[in-house]
Amino acid sequence: MQTSSKTPLILGNWKMNGSLADNLGWVTRARHQLEKQPVHHVTLGVCPPFPYLQSLRQILPAQIALGAQDVSSECVGAYTGETSAAMLKELQCRYVLVGHSERRARLAETDGDVARKFRLAKHAGLTPVLCVGESQTERDNNETTQVITQQLQAVFELCGPEGFHAGVIAYEPIWAIGTGRTASPSDIEAVHGAIFEWLGKHQIPEASVHVLYGGSVKAENSADIFALEGVDGGLIGGASLNAGSFIDIARSANQTAQLAEPLAFARKSL
Ligand code: 13P
Repeated sequence: MQTSSKTPLILGNWKMNGSLADNLGWVTRARHQLEKQPVHHVTLGVCPPFPYLQSLRQILPAQIALGAQDVSSECVGAYTGETSAAMLKELQCRYVLVGHSERRARLAETDGDVARKFRLAKHAGLTPVLCVGESQTERDNNETTQVITQQLQAVFELCGPEGFHAGVIAYEPIWAIGTGRTASPSDIEAVHGAIFEWLGKHQIPEASVHVLYGGSVKAENSADIFALEGVDGGLIGGASLNAGSFIDIARSANQTAQLAEPLAFARKSL
């Protein structure tokens, strides 16, 4: 059952992986796959490490947008090692991840830092991808909805409802990242449902926000995940490092979207 009538969005997060040679191979394989069998009705993007943005923007197939994995919470100035939203825009990035759990945990990024990054990205004309998700302990303590709501709320307080317009939220349960464990279908639907409920309560139109799932998505399980209620695409880590798997995942999103179209049409005509 897939009820989303949005064009699915599939983003690859390469994290700290790759090399110039790997990237070239990835692009060659992705291009070959797309030429062999085009994938329509899916929006695609990859977020490579910062040093590769410049070269990848010149060689990525036109269908694959560029994204970054992080952005500074400051505008400009003496912030050694930081990259501003304006710089990412200049490199023609379309997306930027904000608040990935690996940064929240390892670099102690707070909800406030993430909200500032989100706002600056938005002002620069980028699409921030707000990553939210609970730890295993928080899940065990039944705090999942509370944690996610707090993470959303911090951005809402700084950016208001319009901040989420044409926005992207990625639900990534921390315990499912890189572990091979995906959340169960009912867990995913419950959390995505809670996110849409939160959006509704804050007068943010459901149709204007993509809610992605991330956490051990691979070609073998992606079709089942994308078919779930409220899943508008995926944020793919490990499996996106292989161009073939990434395109296979995109293909499964395209197939689920095509199955959903008659449903969406039937609902509209009711
Ligand atoms: P994996 O797909 O490797 O679990 O990573 C998910 C993720 O963190 C994407 O941002």
